[in-house]
Amino acid sequence: MKIITSPAEMKAFSLTHRRNSNSIGFVPTMGALHEGHLSLIDIARKHCGCAVASIFVNPAQFGPNEDFAKYPRAFERDCGLLEAAGCDCVFAPAVGDMYPDNYGTYVNVDGITDTLCGASRPGHFRGVATVVLKLFNIVLPDAAVFGSKDAQQVAVIRRMVEDLNLSVRIIAAPIAREAGGLAMSSRNAYLTIGERREAAAIYAGLAKSVEMYNDGCRDSQQIKNCVLTEINRSSTIKPEYVEAVDTKSLQPVDKIDGQVLIAVACRTSESGTRLIDNVVLKDKNL
Ligand code: PAJ
Repeated sequence: MKIITSPAEMKAFSLTHRRNSNSIGFVPTMGALHEGHLSLIDIARKHCGCAVASIFVNPAQFGPNEDFAKYPRAFERDCGLLEAAGCDCVFAPAVGDMYPDNYGTYVNVDGITDTLCGASRPGHFRGVATVVLKLFNIVLPDAAVFGSKDAQQVAVIRRMVEDLNLSVRIIAAPIAREAGGLAMSSRNAYLTIGERREAAAIYAGLAKSVEMYNDGCRDSQQIKNCVLTEINRSSTIKPEYVEAVDTKSLQPVDKIDGQVLIAVACRTSESGTRLIDNVVLKDKNL
């Protein structure tokens, strides 16, 4: 597995592969990898001849009071996991190479960033869209794989690809979960033992919403209340939002009609960890 830190060298690597008709499947990450990340590499390998992952903790997507400084970094371990997963190349640039002192260009994706995490993390998706566009321009992927755990992120990237006429196919991957249902996340490393146990309430709430939907409930408020009740059984998991939104526009809906995303963000009360998760409610035949 090749490890590249220079953007120019990464571009040269990709151009050589593309000239040889070898398609590039790309998985952008911030490292501290888990099985969720590795499942994206599997998908990239299935679709493309060459799998490239990036590891870059992107300062532009963290707010001033967020966890950029303490975000887990485990480069050597990550490289071992990526190599074992069959990844062909890791791109791990330095912050100064991505954002030199005179850096001044940012990508704003309007509308769908107004709700959910966009509302509670101002500037977050501007940082995500900017770094992803930069990474696309350096890695030159044919396809890029993103996890559905970050459902709003996938929607923002799809919107950007469409609006800016990019030639990258976006593939959304299912959410990888721990045995108890908790969505895998690099931030789960912050959880206390008690919080980790109680965090299963988030998925339990979402699973209940699927049950209610399958039993015929189409009322958003009832479904949101049921998710909230389940989460509030835990003493350490505090909901930040529980929303029912259209999967494309991410605007709130009163009635569940078509495909609706039930999205949850919580904050734990001991370690202050932010956790997100979601399910899509849809007719089986959709
Ligand atoms: P990061 O949180 O490291 O996630 C990298 C990719 O892994 C994202 O597409 C994310 O949705 C996916 N992922 C995380 N947990 C997952 C899980 N449990 N199951 C499936 N996929 C999962 O998301 C980012 O980094 C950054 O915002 C990035 C896109 C790299 C831009 O900086």
